[in-house]
Amino acid sequence: MEENLLTPTDVFDALPDPVLALDSSRAIFFANKAGKALLGEAIEGEDISMALRQPVVLSLADAALAGKHPEPGEIKISRGTAQIFEIQATPIHGNERIKALITIKNNTRIKQADEIRSTFVANVSHELRSPLASLLGFIETLQGAAKDDPEAREKFLSIMENEASRMSRLIDDLLSLSSVEVDEHVQPREPVNLIPLLSDVVNVIQAQAVKKRIKFISDFPEHLPSIPGDVDQLTQVFQNLLENAMKYGRSESVIQIKIIIDHQLSEKSASHVMVSIRDQGDGIPSKDLSRLTERFYRVDKARSRELGGTGLGLAIVKHIIGRHRGRLEINSEEGVGSTFTVFLPTFES
Ligand SMILES: Nc1ncnc2c1ncn2[C@@H]1O[C@H](COP(=O)(O)OP(=O)(O)OP(=O)(O)O)[C@@H](O)[C@H]1O
Ligand SMILES: [Mg+2]
Repeated sequence: MEENLLTPTDVFDALPDPVLALDSSRAIFFANKAGKALLGEAIEGEDISMALRQPVVLSLADAALAGKHPEPGEIKISRGTAQIFEIQATPIHGNERIKALITIKNNTRIKQADEIRSTFVANVSHELRSPLASLLGFIETLQGAAKDDPEAREKFLSIMENEASRMSRLIDDLLSLSSVEVDEHVQPREPVNLIPLLSDVVNVIQAQAVKKRIKFISDFPEHLPSIPGDVDQLTQVFQNLLENAMKYGRSESVIQIKIIIDHQLSEKSASHVMVSIRDQGDGIPSKDLSRLTERFYRVDKARSRELGGTGLGLAIVKHIIGRHRGRLEINSEEGVGSTFTVFLPTFES
């Protein structure tokens, strides 16, 4: 009876990462399936420096063939998009033909996550540093030049208060963002009725809108099914969207809030509830639309700062809606206004 034994080739071929075995002349004696998929079917027999034309690969291979265990290296390969690979070379002892193994691991996603993290840290530091620098500046002035000037003192203290509250808001927003991110995989399921929720948010915002003489017009259906959600987080979503509509809306304009029940699945049961908030502001250039929900992204940095914004509002909104398994749609026309529509699934969907 024929024995069905797994050969080393079968094992290497089953590995998800490319593995290349080198002979003493640096030629590829064997490449597993993943290796051929990355470098080509006819790779066996070629010198490794021809297969991967990067100096780091050559020096790693030479080191391993000399019996050393070199530190892993990194190479970039462009296949449509640039991919980053980690290359490791290990000497093999006691085999007649194979003298070194080269393993290749795709690290693109880890690198991207690293980059996102470091950009985020750089942004946070920058956002905290500017109000802090201004606070330090005013403290110095108050200790020196403006020491005995009560008028200047009043003015500077009020600026300092503004800057300190900006820092405090930024920290609150960062904490809020990270707490939503931690829970993002758990869909909230308390029944929430959006009509009283939105009415409460409008009442709070209305007080601020009076100054700009902005009017809110609500168009709500008579019966609205409750949706699975988290009241506090949904309040945060609509507070932010309405605040934006007001902040970036024109004075003496109208903000429309409309709830529509979407019967996509069947006549009887609703699949989504859509809440749209339409302002009559300056609108958003189309090149900025797709980046709006990125952390710290603002169309006009100076204007957003002046209005007390941290640039984290829409990032928080996006994560909360994601946690609710919903989605956010943004439409805008420059000079006319913007509409932010939130789609939230119902219990039936
Ligand atoms: N309704 C709107 N009309 C025009 N531009 C908008 C509107 N909503 C958001 N934007 C633009 O998108 C940017 C990001 O909005 P986001 O809510 O994330 O930050 P923010 O309002 O600047 O600060 P925060 O919400 O943290 O106080 C804003 O800076 C603004 O440029
Ligand atoms: Mg905002």
